[in-house]
Formats: sequence, structure tokens, C-alpha cells
Amino acid sequence: MNARESITVDVVAVEQLTPLIKRFTLALPDGAPLPPFSGGAHVLVSMQDGGQWHHNAYSLLSSPRETRQYQIAVRREEASRGGSAFMHDKVAAGTQLAIGSPANLFELARNARRHVFIAGGIGITPFLAQLAEHRPDADADADAGAALELELHYAYRSPEHGAFVEELKSGPHAANVHCYVDSEGQRLDLLKLFKSLPADAHVYVCGPAGLNDAVHANAALLGWPKSQLHAEQFAATETGGKAFTVVLAKSGLELEVAEDETILKAIERAGVTVESLCREGVCGTCEVPILEGEADHRDQYLDDEEKAAQKTILLCVSRSRTPRLVIDL
Ligand code: FES
Repeated sequence: MNARESITVDVVAVEQLTPLIKRFTLALPDGAPLPPFSGGAHVLVSMQDGGQWHHNAYSLLSSPRETRQYQIAVRREEASRGGSAFMHDKVAAGTQLAIGSPANLFELARNARRHVFIAGGIGITPFLAQLAEHRPDADADADAGAALELELHYAYRSPEHGAFVEELKSGPHAANVHCYVDSEGQRLDLLKLFKSLPADAHVYVCGPAGLNDAVHANAALLGWPKSQLHAEQFAATETGGKAFTVVLAKSGLELEVAEDETILKAIERAGVTVESLCREGVCGTCEVPILEGEADHRDQYLDDEEKAAQKTILLCVSRSRTPRLVIDL
């Protein structure tokens, strides 16, 4: 668990939005405002499921202009490691949850004016908050963000799986919202999209790994500057593999990391706390030195050289290539 403040919130409403997605509205028990956040921020939700803990990061989708409530949406993952199934099956109005204060790893680029959002499925959530924060209508006039140009391209499986479509199509950004429904043969042509963008646009992608990869491949094909491409992978990177032993050198603790578990989870299971902001291999807060053994790096934080050097490992997603991995923790 990270060292940031933990906040106890009440779940005040739960709505089934699509067959797989539920929206949860969270508020402080006394109704006071929650900490401020900006579009693209997420909170870490800690769930106690019997003797087991789940810690999942969810984007805040509600408007940053209204902090008496936070809203998150949770997709039931087929191969859930527990958190999404817990939220769907065991959380109802009246449940209390522990959340961390908001952190933002997916902010709009400062000083840029044109922002193009590409969302796949549940990856729509951070963009909802960004669109709500930068509303082009009246009460945004005094805001510096009012001058921003925002455009959304949202791809989803079928009409019944398109969460938030109605509100997007009737909202203040409707003219710049483009939806692509796979079951109706509508495809988002990424190459065409990139070719149509002005050179100063910043592009943001959030969705399944396939969409993320396709956006990066098309951007690379056209030489799109990396500094103008931003990604948030909402689904955890593939973390499964062979079981191995991790040794925490400072305490001598030896822990088995199961085939479907992350090192971070195994460590938390043993009651040891580790700073972990994103839990998806992007922020670097869970990086620790390797003392012995070799990492199977699965993060998006270390560059190729750092990965080859085998000096550190990110505990939230990476695994071990060797049966035993000793880390400086
Ligand atoms: S917690 Fe962010 S990289 Fe591990």
C-alpha cells in the first residue's frame, strides 16, 4: 500500500451501465468535498475481501468541477484477479471503501491547445473527466481551459457495450465526439486520423493493449513525435507466468509468487507495504534494486537499456526469469 493518505468513502450509488460495466458514486460520510483532482486522474481503491486485499486503480470519470462526489466505472474482467469481481458482486450502496487521494499520470500536455482522445471500451473513463473539466459552455468562459480544442474518438464492441455514449452525444462536446461501433462495421482508421491531425496536436490513448499498440504503430509510421503521444493502459499488463520465489533482502522474507499473481501482491499478502501509485508499470514508484536473479520486465517505465542492465525491477507488473529473485527491500 502506498504512503499517501487513505480516505474512507461511502458508496452512495451503483448503476449497471452495460452488461459488463458498473458506475460507482463515492462520497465522504459527512458529505464534505473530497480532494481536488484534474481530468485523467485515478484513485487506488483498496478492497478487503475476507482475508484478502485487492488494490485496483480506477480513473475518476466525474467532473473535476464537482468534488462532493467521485465516480468510477468498473468493467468486470473475464480473467479478474479479484478486484473487478469484488466491485461487481460485493459492493452496493452503503458499502464503505478505502481510496487513496487522486494522482494524475495522464494529464493534458501543458501549453498545448489541440488534444485528440482515442478510447477503446472502458478506456473512455479518463476522457470523460477531461471533457467535463474543459467544457466549452458558459461557466467555463473564465477558465483558461476554455480555449482548448478537444476531440474524442471512441471505439466499442456493440451498441449495448457503449457506456456513456448518450451523454457524450448530448453533452457540450457532442460535435467533436466520434463513435465507432465494431458490430456495425464501423472502424476507426488510425492512419487516416493521424494524417488528418494538425502538427501541433497531442494524442492520448486509453484502452486495451491492442488499441494502444495500433496507435503507437501508426504514429511511428508517420513519424509522429513521441512527445505528442500519451498513453494510459487501463487494463493491467499481462502479469502471469511461472511461479518463483522472491526474497526480501532486508527482512530475509522468502515469498512464493504464484503463477497468476504479481510480486507486489505477494509482498502485500505478507503484510509488507510498498509505495505503488499506478500498479500498471507506468509510474516507477514501485521500482526496487535487484540483488540477485534476473527480471522478466513487463513495464512501460524502464527503457530498453535499463531493462537489459537488470539493475532494478518494477514490482507491480514484472516477474522473474530465474527461480529465485533477491530484491533490496
Ligand atoms: S506502481 Fe507504478 S510502476 Fe509500479
